[in-house]
Amino acid sequence: MNHFLDIHKTDKAALRGIIDQAKATKQARLNRPKAALDDDLPLKDRMVALIFEKPSTRTRVSFDVGVRQMGGQTMVLSGSDMQLGHGETIADTARVLSRYVDMIMIRTFDETVLTEMAEFASIPVINGLTDRTHPCQIMADVLTYEEHRGPIQGKKVVWCGDGNNVCASFLHAAGQFGFDFTFTGPAQLDPEPEFIGLARNQGVEVIIERDAEKAVAEADLVVADTWVSMHDSQSSKERRHNMLRSYQVNEALMAKAKPDALFMHCLPAHREEEVTSAVMDGPQSVIFDEAENRLHAQKAIMRYCMEG
Ligand code: CP
Ligand code: NVA
Repeated sequence: MNHFLDIHKTDKAALRGIIDQAKATKQARLNRPKAALDDDLPLKDRMVALIFEKPSTRTRVSFDVGVRQMGGQTMVLSGSDMQLGHGETIADTARVLSRYVDMIMIRTFDETVLTEMAEFASIPVINGLTDRTHPCQIMADVLTYEEHRGPIQGKKVVWCGDGNNVCASFLHAAGQFGFDFTFTGPAQLDPEPEFIGLARNQGVEVIIERDAEKAVAEADLVVADTWVSMHDSQSSKERRHNMLRSYQVNEALMAKAKPDALFMHCLPAHREEEVTSAVMDGPQSVIFDEAENRLHAQKAIMRYCMEG
């Protein structure tokens, strides 16, 4: 059975297959109404549970629409409304859901909720974001980069800000897709050493550079994310903003990257904080293509899971 738990836990050929499949199905649907079915329906007669223990706009809507385009049906559940939020074990929840539905996508806090769900479910489980990683997002980002600029292999990606869950999945992708990765942010918010080590072990260059302007020199892609993630306490907001202020992506910083560098942000963004509107709405930004590509990438991920 194929789960999709993380980019470093999925083999390289499968990852490449997912990106290629996403490109092909996106192409085949051009100009088709949003609710129209795909040509083939790998989720026909299938039921998918979408569980959210944190808020979501993109993940919720893109998975829901994606399942329907592939001929399946969805059930959107909030963790707090389920017995999961009231003391039932994850293992029992996983066994029960496996009797009703064919696949589970879960967005949660602690990564162990995801891994236990996968261990005890007899159906595929997909990671829709944990405190630690966000693999579906980065599959959409790789797809987006390649649509605009061709192969991502050998390119220089620069992450500005907090070494958070989205950054972690970018590091996983660096190793698996073969691109170099520079992190620029304060030392207190460095990515986990384990993730840096994984990428370096796969032969890609990972640089930690405290000076944002030096970091983005020769960048092919500049990426930002919120300074306060859903799992961060609101009381840490001011301290984090103070630490991160000099890592804002603005036009002056983008001017230090390659002239054809792209800008990405997984969204939701806090305009004029981690990134200015001038960059978000500027010619280098591909943020809404990224958002659209969540749909196409995740459909390919679900197909991969069902094929297993
Ligand atoms: N980028 C992303 O995962 O967005 P949502 O939180 O809206 O799902
Ligand atoms: N790092 C952000 C990503 C949101 C999609 C968070 O975890 O809140």
